[in-house]
Amino acid sequence: MWAEKLGAQLGNPTRSLAGWMVSKVLRKRNHVLEENAVLLSGIQPGDTVLELGHGPGLGLQLAATLLTKPTGHLIGVDYSEYMHQMASKQMKEHVASGKVNLYHCDVAALPLADSIVDKVFHCNCYYFWPDLRKGATEIHRVMKPGGLMVTTLRLSNVAAMAAMRVMPGENWRPEAYMAALRDSGFTDVRMEDKEHKQFTFQAIYATA
Ligand SMILES: C[S@@+](CC[C@H](N)C(=O)[O-])C[C@H]1O[C@@H](n2cnc3c(N)ncnc32)[C@H](O)[C@@H]1O
Repeated sequence: MWAEKLGAQLGNPTRSLAGWMVSKVLRKRNHVLEENAVLLSGIQPGDTVLELGHGPGLGLQLAATLLTKPTGHLIGVDYSEYMHQMASKQMKEHVASGKVNLYHCDVAALPLADSIVDKVFHCNCYYFWPDLRKGATEIHRVMKPGGLMVTTLRLSNVAAMAAMRVMPGENWRPEAYMAALRDSGFTDVRMEDKEHKQFTFQAIYATA
């Protein structure tokens, strides 16, 4: 029961004590994964960049600092209204200037035109998508051909949470996500181990 409740809050944090606590945990524990998702995606100053499931907004903050050319544009989407509001507050100056656009929406229905995004990054997000193929197809649609998508995860932690049934079903498995990416037209789909001073994490790459 508690595992289901925790999974529901991680997958869609709500404005509640539990949602607030989840946002604090995400800020404290996920900064390494968020920072590395940004850095590994190789953002160039004039790129159009998309973060999926940004949560409280740690990755958005770092990505915005790398987009130094006037054409540099950052887009963030999150399914949770609470996270959308939290990140909108955090990024309010960039949103006001038009450098950043944040959307409260589902990864499977992005309010974006075809082939406009150079880089996509996300972390701790795909496990909660009910249909990985739908999500991957939508990401591929909005990306420019040759663009790079990166997601970071700590597989040992995710597997432990899945064993406690915090993650629903089998979508947490990297193989499931990578198969959906290949089926949706991505190429060079691969997962690499990365060493951080405190732990090992994984990065999944895919080229649109
Ligand atoms: C575990 S949190 C991770 C947040 C942030 N990336 C981090 O690592 O701190 C998962 C986030 O993905 C969002 N999310 C889950 N499924 C989504 C979907 N289908 N579309 C958009 N956002 C989604 C949730 O609302 C939540 O903010």
